[in-house]
Amino acid sequence: MSEKENSIKISYRVIKSISKLPEMDKQLLDLAIRASERAYAPYSAFKVGTAILLEGGIIVTGSNQENAEYPSGLCSEMVAIFSDSAEYPNRIIEKIAVVSKDKDGQLRPVTPCGACRQVLFEYEVKQEQPIGMILVGQNESLMEFKDMQSLLPFGFGKDQLV
Ligand code: THU
Repeated sequence: MSEKENSIKISYRVIKSISKLPEMDKQLLDLAIRASERAYAPYSAFKVGTAILLEGGIIVTGSNQENAEYPSGLCSEMVAIFSDSAEYPNRIIEKIAVVSKDKDGQLRPVTPCGACRQVLFEYEVKQEQPIGMILVGQNESLMEFKDMQSLLPFGFGKDQLV
């Protein structure tokens, strides 16, 4: 037999509620929530906020910015990471929180789209250190990923450009 079936495992931690998070992560989440309130999302009304924790405790935030020419808008993750890279090009990124609230103000699950995963993965490859990610899961739980690679298995990186 020349064929073989392979599989990969994606691991993440489930945290039961925000109250169980370490203080720094709570603050990161809180800043992501506040960033989501600054989203410009008149077309989808889906407001997303991202907060990026850098080495040294600096936090950069972003929110989705939509446009009448729909594809010209950007997701919150991209707004935040491009802003971070433009402002602090050489500072290590430790962790990223992404959140969205529903119309009642409750946090709801949101996971980065494929394009955002690709963009975030680029910076993990660049810094040669993992970038953690905190996302909102079901029933007020949180999901913590240890690196971007876990969210983008087989991601395309500069190492392949040879
Ligand atoms: N959006 C984000 O900003 N981040 C995500 O992870 C998912 C989707 C935005 C894009 C668009 O402005 C709106 O949410 C609806 O797709």
